[in-house]
Amino acid sequence: AAEIRDDLTDILVTEEQILHKLDEIAAQVASDYEGKDLLLVGVLKGAVMVMADFSRALPTPVPMDWMAVSSYGAGTKSSGVVQIRKDLDTDLHGKHVLIVEDIIDSGLTLAWLLENFESRGAASIEVFALLRKPDAAKVEVRSKYVGFDIPNDFVVGYGLDYAEKYRNLRDVAVLAPHVYQD
Ligand code: PRP
Ligand code: MN
Ligand code: MG
Repeated sequence: AAEIRDDLTDILVTEEQILHKLDEIAAQVASDYEGKDLLLVGVLKGAVMVMADFSRALPTPVPMDWMAVSSYGAGTKSSGVVQIRKDLDTDLHGKHVLIVEDIIDSGLTLAWLLENFESRGAASIEVFALLRKPDAAKVEVRSKYVGFDIPNDFVVGYGLDYAEKYRNLRDVAVLAPHVYQD
């Protein structure tokens, strides 16, 4: 197979920029949640990379848990109807939950998750998304922490996939059209 970089056009955010941003946001989160019972919740699979690096940028021994969800129905993404494929292991009662996501695209996944979490008795629920596409928003998601706003391009890397591949690219980059066109 060809190398990953042959399938990309622009690098939008480099690994170095990401790690620098994660340090900044981790310092903010550490301060905002000082003395609170913080739980990080990652959304599989895209959030694996950002959870790994973000959690290690935090100075406290923070617990993490994972949700796996999938868009329901045929065809393309995010009908907004979401199915839980793996639920949390943790009881949210009294916890200060910070959902960790790779990207807010249409916003439908996080809008659904936030609503789903509302009834679980958490002390608070906030969102950290590494990336956000303002021009793709179908619903507004209240995200307390956002790493980078990016254009509405087809991006991959740092956890983001195309057909399950490219998650292992270190940077966030635009996928070249030849990859998904005939
Ligand atoms: C991607 C991404 C976010 C979601 C954002 O996940 O990781 O979770 O889509 O899109 P939205 O704002 O339009 O809902 P995906 O459903 O592709 O699953 P994955 O994380 O396993 O790749
Ligand atoms: Mn995802
Ligand atoms: Mg995906």
